Amino acid sequence: MTRRSESGQPIEPVYDQNALTDWDPAGKLGAPGAYPFTRGVYPTMYTGRPWTMRQYAGFGTAAESNARYRRLIEHGTTGLSVAFDLPTQMGHDSDAPLAHGEVGRVGVAIDSIEDMRVLFDGIPLDRVSTSMTINAPAAPLLLLHQLVAEEQGAAPARLTGTVQNDILKEYIARGTYIFPPRPSLRLVADIFRYCRTELPQWNTISISGYHMAEAGATPAQEIAFTLANGVEYVRTALAAGMRVDEFAPRLSFFFVARTTLLEEIAKFRAARRIWARLMREEFGAREPRSLMLRFHTQTAGVQLTAQQPEVNLVRVALQGLGAVLGGTQSLHTNAFDEAIALPTERAARLALRTQQVLAYETDVTATVDPFAGSYAMESLTDGIEGAVLALMERIEERGGAVRAIEEGFQKGEIERSAYRIARETESGERVVVGVNRFTVDEEEPYEPLRVDPGIEARQTERLAALRAGRDGAAVAGALGELRAAARGTANVLPPMKEALRARATVGEVCGALREEWGEYVPDERL
Ligand code: 3HC
Repeated sequence: MTRRSESGQPIEPVYDQNALTDWDPAGKLGAPGAYPFTRGVYPTMYTGRPWTMRQYAGFGTAAESNARYRRLIEHGTTGLSVAFDLPTQMGHDSDAPLAHGEVGRVGVAIDSIEDMRVLFDGIPLDRVSTSMTINAPAAPLLLLHQLVAEEQGAAPARLTGTVQNDILKEYIARGTYIFPPRPSLRLVADIFRYCRTELPQWNTISISGYHMAEAGATPAQEIAFTLANGVEYVRTALAAGMRVDEFAPRLSFFFVARTTLLEEIAKFRAARRIWARLMREEFGAREPRSLMLRFHTQTAGVQLTAQQPEVNLVRVALQGLGAVLGGTQSLHTNAFDEAIALPTERAARLALRTQQVLAYETDVTATVDPFAGSYAMESLTDGIEGAVLALMERIEERGGAVRAIEEGFQKGEIERSAYRIARETESGERVVVGVNRFTVDEEEPYEPLRVDPGIEARQTERLAALRAGRDGAAVAGALGELRAAARGTANVLPPMKEALRARATVGEVCGALREEWGEYVPDERL
């Protein structure tokens, strides 16, 4: 009986030389680090340098998160990844009515330059690359990072890191948008332009498939919808007058790694080949770095179970293995207790140790793209490539990613896929160990991490002290400059930086832009 992949492709019980009839290694594979990059973006890949071990972390106050980052660095993590709480992600201060109950809950509360100073206290920002999962307010958080780095004496040109800044997937799957699509895309382009001159080592966007995958997208949908969003960002930057080789080298991506690791490896290989061809043939990119799909991977949060949580250690190890065999540049491995609550210290360390076992005890770093030439892997790679291209064509037919989003196309496709997965799990056709098979009568109790309930009051006090101690007139003037830029076509980041330096808050900066651009209200009919 032929099994089907997550994307619906048949997986043959046996593959042989007949599977690769139109086999063209030169055209389909290329050498590692060379067009079309199927085998990986760097010639030496992990034989030269292991992927970045970049654990997503952040909760409570800046001081609590700073302590977690310092411990992760002590345990051997090689890149930072900041999780912000929902009020910060939605551009509201901790003392805003809408923030009540969410301050410091799913990430760290950052309201101002004072919080950012505490967040990175003792962490040399010119030596540690920092990823920030921030989208609608990516500009103010990027600038706060730069302001604090400059106070540390770091040269902006040496700062490395990434802002997620991928607003389109927020309309599709994650929901932390503020402004309507058009001004949001203008802000993305402003960040591209600002980084090109001010922060040349900074990755300006992390075009994400992860959240769409977590919402139910199949691997083919994940790649197709993500690359289609990427095409929209490229077109936006070109329309803003930038040349493709000026900004494309600093685009980056973010995908999930599911437990079905064979299909996941094929997915990553196909994604690199599609993006390289697209950038060269459709956009005329010439700079090799413009053609390289560099990506971060996070193991699949939705595949973690609250039942028998230690089984998640096995899932995460297999998912991490798939990401590495697929050539990821940066990896987050989930903690085994995250289906229950924020990870405990011990669970967070175990998640990192999983990567260290992959990097230092296995031999997967000894050779590049070990599956190249495999009958099965090359067939799976071709298969998912075809499925992705067909889906991208359906988006093009609708006028591109934004038009398709406004029509609810991607959201509808993902919801149908999520419903199918739920039905298969319910019926037992899709086995989830510990949940619908191999269950236990009595689950052992597990003591999760608890976030200090007093954080909201403390953040509110900090904000009151900040507002009392700053030059209110200077802040009001700077916010006025920002609003003027938002009304016109000048880049909004320079005036925004001066407002933040004068201790304007993230909420005030986003509030000024709300005044000028309004807020996005989704069409409830979709
Ligand atoms: N040969 C030559 N050079 C190499 C090399 C090799 N084998 N390996 C690495 N290098 C070089 C690279 O060229 C790079 O130098 P450069 O910047 O001058 O090009 C340097 O070493 C660092 O390597 P990478 O850029 O490959 O690795 P990074 O870790 O620095 O960057 C990235 C990886 C994907 C490009 C970057 O965008 C990144 O770090 N993304 C992380 C995104 C992230 O953490 N997201 C978290 C999301 S969590 C979330 O969304 C919320 C929740 O809901 C899940």
